[in-house]
Amino acid sequence: MSDTAALYPPPTALAAKAHVSGRAAYDRLVAEADADPEGYWGRLAREYVGWKTPFTRVLDDSRAPFFEWFNDGTLNASWNCLERNIERGLGAKTALIFEADDGAVTHVSYRQLLVRANRIANALRALGVKKGDRVVIYMAMSIDGVAAMQACARIGAIHSVVFGGFSAHALRDRIADTGACLVITADQQVRGGKQLPLKAIVDEALAQGGCASVRHVVVARRTGAAVPFQAPRDLWLNELVDGQSEHCEPEWVEAEHPLFLLYTSGSTGTPKGVQHATGGYLLHAALTCHWTFDMKADDIFWCTADIGWVTGHTYIAYGPLMLGATQIVFEGVPTYPDAGRFWKMIEAHRATIFYTAPTAIRSLIKAAEANEAVHPARYDLASLRILGSVGEPINPAAWTWYHQHVGGGRCPIVDTFWQTETGGHMITPLPGATDLVPGSCTLPFPGIAAAVVDETGNELPWGQGGILVVKRPWPSMIRTIWGNPERFRKGYFPEEFQGRYYLAGDGAIRDAKTGYFTITGRIDDVLNVSGHRMGTMEIESALVAKTDLVAEAAVVGRPDDTTGEAICAFVVLKRPRPTGEEAKALANELRNWVAKEIGPIAKPKDIRFGDNLPKTRSGKIMRRLLRSIAKGEAITQDTSTLENPAILEQLAQTN
Ligand code: WT7
Repeated sequence: MSDTAALYPPPTALAAKAHVSGRAAYDRLVAEADADPEGYWGRLAREYVGWKTPFTRVLDDSRAPFFEWFNDGTLNASWNCLERNIERGLGAKTALIFEADDGAVTHVSYRQLLVRANRIANALRALGVKKGDRVVIYMAMSIDGVAAMQACARIGAIHSVVFGGFSAHALRDRIADTGACLVITADQQVRGGKQLPLKAIVDEALAQGGCASVRHVVVARRTGAAVPFQAPRDLWLNELVDGQSEHCEPEWVEAEHPLFLLYTSGSTGTPKGVQHATGGYLLHAALTCHWTFDMKADDIFWCTADIGWVTGHTYIAYGPLMLGATQIVFEGVPTYPDAGRFWKMIEAHRATIFYTAPTAIRSLIKAAEANEAVHPARYDLASLRILGSVGEPINPAAWTWYHQHVGGGRCPIVDTFWQTETGGHMITPLPGATDLVPGSCTLPFPGIAAAVVDETGNELPWGQGGILVVKRPWPSMIRTIWGNPERFRKGYFPEEFQGRYYLAGDGAIRDAKTGYFTITGRIDDVLNVSGHRMGTMEIESALVAKTDLVAEAAVVGRPDDTTGEAICAFVVLKRPRPTGEEAKALANELRNWVAKEIGPIAKPKDIRFGDNLPKTRSGKIMRRLLRSIAKGEAITQDTSTLENPAILEQLAQTN
């Protein structure tokens, strides 16, 4: 971001009507929040959330860093997303425009979504599910997926959605960690014209053991394929739901009652169950939809994320519904039947706000360059007014293409930086208020005290890169790691910062002139592949779990043009180092093994075999050297502490 960096001011007409209109309005909100954080969040929580019992206390920090928000208030998330809108006269308004993989479209009104959620909620209650019980949802993008989340929220059950691309083993780990009493799934899922299993994977997961808490598996019919069925454990969703009343009294829960758990990867250990609370989370979901996306009554919003990730929670299952918006829910993939699918759907449904990931944009750029027929220029995208990006840094080239070819040069791009743990946007432009600079997520959302500090927690001057922290608690922050409060405290509020600051795990730098933030990447051993977060250790554990073959493994990331980062594994086998065809075959075997252990998203792109790994004399693997080798760089770092320098040359050879 130099003087010559392109600046994109908010379009005048859009800014004039925006919920946050003009930079001065943004600055006023920031000043209000800084002067009196509790007054600010309290005001917004009264405005954006419907309470059964109003709260009298905004922040309770007596158990910091286990912060509590609005904790003497009660509410229900599903009432807020459904009845609250119906009471405002939106019962007949379309909540979901569902487009199936094959292009079939179903419109679901707020009233219809309420009825479906209520019937599922009643069915769950009839099966004995009650407040605080965990329910794992292992479903693809579907109306019932959203309705099932709402149904859990309605009865105070804590949902944990597991992405439909995770393997049986990964699913088992998550079910076991939550102690879920019930799993909701579908017979199959359909993606890109292919039918893929869901129920069969649940069976496999449960058969692996450790899931004795599961009493029932509730199965939605998607394809009608014959699937193994085990009475009395397994039940068909429709048979359960058909006889149920369309009314269901919400369970009014305390604001701090957990709304959901969502598993994400850290640099060490097993995936962690990030716990979010009802009140604060809903506030930020609604507020960010209102300000970051400037969502209005006549908008057609489309977030392309899956409900298996936090983006699909905050910006599909909760945020847009909190505001009574209409949104598109898409079952399929961007490349089926061809790579024009997104553009075709924007045109068909007259989408006005489009939110996707840089990795999708980069792959669609490639596709458009290879085939003119799927170029966005071939579609009418004039309905669009705001674009969004999420999940990883968006490189300026992709940003510019997105701006020009998808947004027609007229739509602001909100590059939203946040995390599973933060619940919603943390650093992001507001489309009617912020001048944009490609590659920068610009400025903190009003009320979010983001800062760049050194190792001891001292704030660095603008222009100097350091560690990204948040200096004040905020309502939608992670509450704890399910079953592991110590890991939460140590990981997110570390001693180096006297337990005062939230540590995001990313590096950042602020522009010397504007103070704009640029995220410089993770400072821990977490990779970001196609916007999916993967722990290097998790992949290493999966590799060494193949005990007949693998002696040792080290995983690093390397830059990749399409997926952002690619997974690169260095493997030592329990047999002589293979080369040529044998190496290829074994690398494939290991890739498939990792897909089975975790899921296809965790498959290493490169696998290199060595007689050993570069280690210090004390036996520590020198990952920075592996990162250079993975990138194909010459090693310039100091290797004097290396026990076995010859290994570097061997690993640098492709095998
Ligand atoms: C990590 C969080 C945010 C929801 C989806 C991913 C990276 C996310 C951006 C962005 C640069 C970004 C960070 C962060 N990240 N958004 N706009 N610019 N980096 O959630 O799986 O919890 O991953 O994704 O590294 O820590 P997640």
